[in-house]
Amino acid sequence: DSRAVIFDLDGVIVDTAKFHFLAWRKLANDLGFDFTEEQNEQLKGVSREDSLKKILNWGNVELSEEEFKRQMALKNENYLGYVNKMDESEMLPGVSRVLTYLEENNIPFALGSASKNARPILKILKIQDKFSAIVDGTDVSKAKPDPEVFLIAAEKMNKKAEACIVFEDSVAGVQAANIANMTSIGIGDKNVLQEADHVFADFTEIELEFIEQLLRKEK
Ligand code: BG6
Ligand code: MG
Repeated sequence: DSRAVIFDLDGVIVDTAKFHFLAWRKLANDLGFDFTEEQNEQLKGVSREDSLKKILNWGNVELSEEEFKRQMALKNENYLGYVNKMDESEMLPGVSRVLTYLEENNIPFALGSASKNARPILKILKIQDKFSAIVDGTDVSKAKPDPEVFLIAAEKMNKKAEACIVFEDSVAGVQAANIANMTSIGIGDKNVLQEADHVFADFTEIELEFIEQLLRKEK
């Protein structure tokens, strides 16, 4: 059976991870504390709700249910302020070359993102029609590292999990891909993404031959 590819969105296809960081950091600062970029790695790939829980825990802050919801909404408003100013130039370098390669070779690819903002972002990038399937934070009940989002993406492409190759920038996402028994390719820091099958600093480091080889062999 031929293989298929699943892309995470934030920090893989588009440079929105920095906007999530800025918006969460503002929220923490407004509540009177701060967190580091190292701590931020633990937020990548994690749902909005779980992220806020982690952050409040770091700051030793407890919120009422109502205030929790208000803070989630504020964070998203702040995040969307950045997103709405962005255009196709925020696509990360080397990504479109890989998408074009896959298209030309009729390799199906899907989106597997924790974000509830994934669809409008793909639209801004004008790539929403390229995906065989889009699975995002509005489709899943269990957040990464649970493999649900990737398993649904595989199912929508009619592929077995083992046939899928996942590109991820987050620890939680790499773990989700591994738990699903997919091939995990980390995009980012080798020291952070140690659990991935392969790691590249970014897509410009990936030779098309490498992808071609992966597509040819079984996991
Ligand atoms: C992930 C990001 O893709 O989506 C996280 O890595 C983010 O940082 C999560 O919290 C949820 O995104 P959103 O857009 O639904 O708040
Ligand atoms: Mg990501």
